[in-house]
Amino acid sequence: MNYWEDPGPGYGVLPPRAAVRSDAPRLSLNGRWRFRWTPSVPPAGFEAPDFDDSDWDWLPVPSSWPMHGHGSPAYTNQKYPFPVDPPYVPDENPTGDHRLAFELPSSWSGPTVLRFDGVDSCARVWLNGVELGVTRGSRLPAEFAVGDLLRPGRNVLAVRVHQWSSGSYLEDQDMWWLPGIFRDVTLISRPVDADVFVHADYVDGSGVLRVESAPGAIVRIPELDVEVPTGRTVAIPGAEPWSAEAPRLYDAVVELPGERIALRIGFRTVEIVDGVLRVNGRRIVFHGVNRHEHDPVFGRAVPLERLREELLVMKRHNINAIRTSHYPPDTRLLELCDELGFWVMDECDYESHGFMLIDWRGNPADDPRFLDASLDRMRRTVERDKNHPCVVMWSLGNEAGVGSNLSAMAAWTRERDPSRPVHYEGDLTCADVDVYSRMYASHAEVEAIGKRAEKPLDDPVLDARRRAMPFVLCEYSHAGGNGPGGLPEYEELFDSYERCQGGFLWEWMEHGILRADGSYGYGGDFGEELHDGTYVLDGLVFPDLTPQPVLAEVHKVYEPVRLTIADEVLTVTNRYDVLDTSHLCFHWDLTDEGVVVQSGTLDIPVIASGESATIKLPALPPQDRERWLTVRAVLTQDCAWAGAGHELTFTQASLTPGTSIGRLAQPEVAAVGPMGIARAHTASAGALSTTAAAVGGEVEVGPGVFHPVTGRLVRLQGWDVEHVPLELWRAPTQHDARTWDATTLDRKTRWVDAGLDRLRYRTVAVERTGDELVVTTMVGAAATDARVLTTYRWRSDGERLMAEVEVEPLGEWTVPWARLGVTFGLPGRLHTMTWFGLGPGQAYPDSRSAARIGRYTSTIDDLQVPYLYPQENGARGDVRWAELSGAAGKLRLTGDPHVALTVRRWTTAELAAAEHPADLHPGDQVWITLDALQHGLGSPTSGAPILPPHDLQPRKHTFRFSLGS
Ligand code: GAL
Repeated sequence: MNYWEDPGPGYGVLPPRAAVRSDAPRLSLNGRWRFRWTPSVPPAGFEAPDFDDSDWDWLPVPSSWPMHGHGSPAYTNQKYPFPVDPPYVPDENPTGDHRLAFELPSSWSGPTVLRFDGVDSCARVWLNGVELGVTRGSRLPAEFAVGDLLRPGRNVLAVRVHQWSSGSYLEDQDMWWLPGIFRDVTLISRPVDADVFVHADYVDGSGVLRVESAPGAIVRIPELDVEVPTGRTVAIPGAEPWSAEAPRLYDAVVELPGERIALRIGFRTVEIVDGVLRVNGRRIVFHGVNRHEHDPVFGRAVPLERLREELLVMKRHNINAIRTSHYPPDTRLLELCDELGFWVMDECDYESHGFMLIDWRGNPADDPRFLDASLDRMRRTVERDKNHPCVVMWSLGNEAGVGSNLSAMAAWTRERDPSRPVHYEGDLTCADVDVYSRMYASHAEVEAIGKRAEKPLDDPVLDARRRAMPFVLCEYSHAGGNGPGGLPEYEELFDSYERCQGGFLWEWMEHGILRADGSYGYGGDFGEELHDGTYVLDGLVFPDLTPQPVLAEVHKVYEPVRLTIADEVLTVTNRYDVLDTSHLCFHWDLTDEGVVVQSGTLDIPVIASGESATIKLPALPPQDRERWLTVRAVLTQDCAWAGAGHELTFTQASLTPGTSIGRLAQPEVAAVGPMGIARAHTASAGALSTTAAAVGGEVEVGPGVFHPVTGRLVRLQGWDVEHVPLELWRAPTQHDARTWDATTLDRKTRWVDAGLDRLRYRTVAVERTGDELVVTTMVGAAATDARVLTTYRWRSDGERLMAEVEVEPLGEWTVPWARLGVTFGLPGRLHTMTWFGLGPGQAYPDSRSAARIGRYTSTIDDLQVPYLYPQENGARGDVRWAELSGAAGKLRLTGDPHVALTVRRWTTAELAAAEHPADLHPGDQVWITLDALQHGLGSPTSGAPILPPHDLQPRKHTFRFSLGS
């Protein structure tokens, strides 16, 4: 058997221990290494110190080698990109040979280890021609004792890295396959067995500390006047607790023979009491994200500045928790999480999802040959990260089915570190774990779980045990492309049920890879013969960390303070786990049709966590124009992750006559049939099946000119106009495109099956009655009798053109509609849109919490959201009026009551056909679609259906709009 196929963990590697900062001498071996890539395993020999590598390439280490032109990135979700034949891998096993000649400083002395923080997927290591050993377990450290192999002066390190190994069977995470030495390589002069395990609890208002380390070592915490020998437990009454919201850390030093280890200690106790997860005695709620390690340029070798920036963006959007999906992150990330404050679920590098596709036959999680490797991975996770206060839970891995190896991993973890609960989602019985976890459970299922009324397990003992556990959604609300919608409804469940302790959105970042032409590639863009396309694009931020629109929604839904206004009373609810509101101030402003007319600050008493206060608002006079009151909670002072004035949340209330003060209006509730699908039948269709009545030459109505036969608007205020009387389709979002067609992206959605993208229009009648032009059109698609009778009533006051549109579904409709809208093609020489409605970003029926009523201006180009896979985007909701302007002139448009607007330089069909943003080319027209109704975004692919009323069912509807200068 080849060593890379041995199912064990490797050999020659030292027992795992904590990643620490110490004053032990260290020499970074990062830098330029010699590198040779071969598509399969070449003969050995390159490890000899005098081997001539002068014709090899140079490669930076750390690096993912496909990001530097050697081999290619490859993306699969579940499928193994090689035959499933564990523990073997194909002969085509791309191999990277690395060589580094380095000088050892003359002062170097003492026992030394060579440490690799991460090598993907299997490395064999030689120092000065002598083998040190073999390591597997890509996202885990490995240390080798170098003994007396180091020489004064020149030394040569040789590392052979194989892309595939037995370890690959345990690393089938949904991400790019990116081999390489992708984390630091360091020579450290420290005892091979020195370790430290900090137990820092917070009990009854005191810190309780015990540090395990070598006998005779001393622990000092100068700030707390603590100096104790290791092994002894001390209570520290003055210590403040650590939490994600108040991440209080104390600098400590452990003095060991020959080494001083620097620690940052946070006191906190994690426990499950009465079925609820508590930290320092308080229930916590995870407002979390799943985070992979990805950089669009460097692959899995993520620079430190980016790690920090990621966390800052999270903190600024009210995200308080991270699941390290699906492997331990760079340890520096955990240091930053300690410092900035995040609850972390630390997950082992363990996933064998591809076995699901073969009914879990031969799953390594249940194969005794993989027991040692399984335990080794768990040990290396726990030992490396055990001292971080941010880590509040261990996770055995992800989607590895069930098996005895997982049970062994859980048992070992519980024994080694009873202070943290164990998590694993893949076994529904929860036999091995402490927390009940599901991914993508629907709102209804979460509600049942919240009531501890979920579907029982067959085994009553296990069922009772699971029913007594706290519940988390380790993944929810999949953010593939534009979406997800439905977040507020999940949040309500976390608020309502003590057992539902939040969850982790899927996922933080889009894993696009930057290509030479400046565009981002996804699965299939790198010549992979097997891939999962856009499924790798499912983040809340773009690959360069620019927020996607949904991050604003997350920010609002995860608000740590909730503001509501009803009956001239403002209620402020403190939703923090720990903090009071003393760091916040509250601003208000009053706007008339989007223009600020008054503003000020509210005096609000400090509110403790979990409490609320009500404040009677001063009488604010209503007014004829639309008047809105906005209240915002902002930071009073700069903090570690944002500046003074940073907004945590807001609320708005309408003060317009005729509308009572209340929450921002929600979209109208659809009439839904008993099966969720509206079925419309009407007798009126026959009566209207006459041919169009021509009304002579072109028909003028105010500034509009209509075609005499089709009744479509052809000119408006002198512009040539194209008019699509009814639109029911949109360029499928990633979720639209997958919902009905399993996991392979296919734009053939049920909407396409039903022909919504190829509607035909039959003019039934064009009639002039008095000052009204009535145009009746039958709209339908080939091969079905599902149609929509559309009646326009056009009128004008001389200046403006007003339309009332009535739609009536006829025949048998079996699919919902993507939208109910009207499109106009206008001159391309329009540049800017100013509107009064929801903004500044996009709003969809089930994703609009962050949008607020105001007056906004944007260029047409900036209204677009450049999703890496083009799709429906950028709709502005509840628009009362909008003004488009540019060299062509001006057009003012109003909606009654409101319309949603999308304005683009390409058609919906062009948007739907594009594979990358660069495929979209501005045409000669600007296309504006006014939607009376829209289908929600949801995140249905993963299992949670779009909630009514956001699933737009066919139904009769009337709406109005006007056009003019
Ligand atoms: C889950 C899985 C994640 C990811 C997600 C969908 O099943 O745990 O790794 O694949 O689905 O993108």
